[in-house]
Amino acid sequence: MSDAERTFVMVKPDGVQRGLIGEIISRFEERGLKLVGAKFTQISEELAHEHYGEHEGKPFFDGLVEFITAGPVMAMVWEGQDATRQVRTMMGATDPAESAPGTIRGDFGLDLGRNVIHGSDHADEGANVREIDLFFDEDELQDYERIDETWLYE
Ligand code: RTP
Ligand code: MG
Repeated sequence: MSDAERTFVMVKPDGVQRGLIGEIISRFEERGLKLVGAKFTQISEELAHEHYGEHEGKPFFDGLVEFITAGPVMAMVWEGQDATRQVRTMMGATDPAESAPGTIRGDFGLDLGRNVIHGSDHADEGANVREIDLFFDEDELQDYERIDETWLYE
């Protein structure tokens, strides 16, 4: 495998409430990505400010913090070849109204402020590592091989 990497993914409070955790996990599993960390948790206001720090001061920031802290989220780390970019592609565009059918947001969302899932931005160098560090301790991440790995990668 080349370019193996880990990326941070989170089913947002709307996705949890709408019963989409299993469907979303299945898509990543079936794609061949490997789950190496998972935490069902509620985000504090402080963590929300850190996680979405790049958006502080923007008009939608307060609403975004209120939404992301409004209920539990399913925080995960997925590993695989080019994982950060592949997950973003599977998520679809930020606005579900612009997301292609077949993507998670394109299949399960309609509104920009309720877009079901977060994934580290591959255009933001190191965002995956920073976000994993923010949500997980090293000993909460698992190192193991999936039995299909020799068939997934040349
Ligand atoms: P996320 O960080 O949540 O995975 O989403 P993203 O990278 O696709 O988009 P980003 O630009 O980081 O925006 C973070 C979240 O803020 C909300 N948003 N609202 N009203 C607006 O103009 C606006 N722009 C962004 C979205 O819910 C987006 O997921
Ligand atoms: Mg983002």
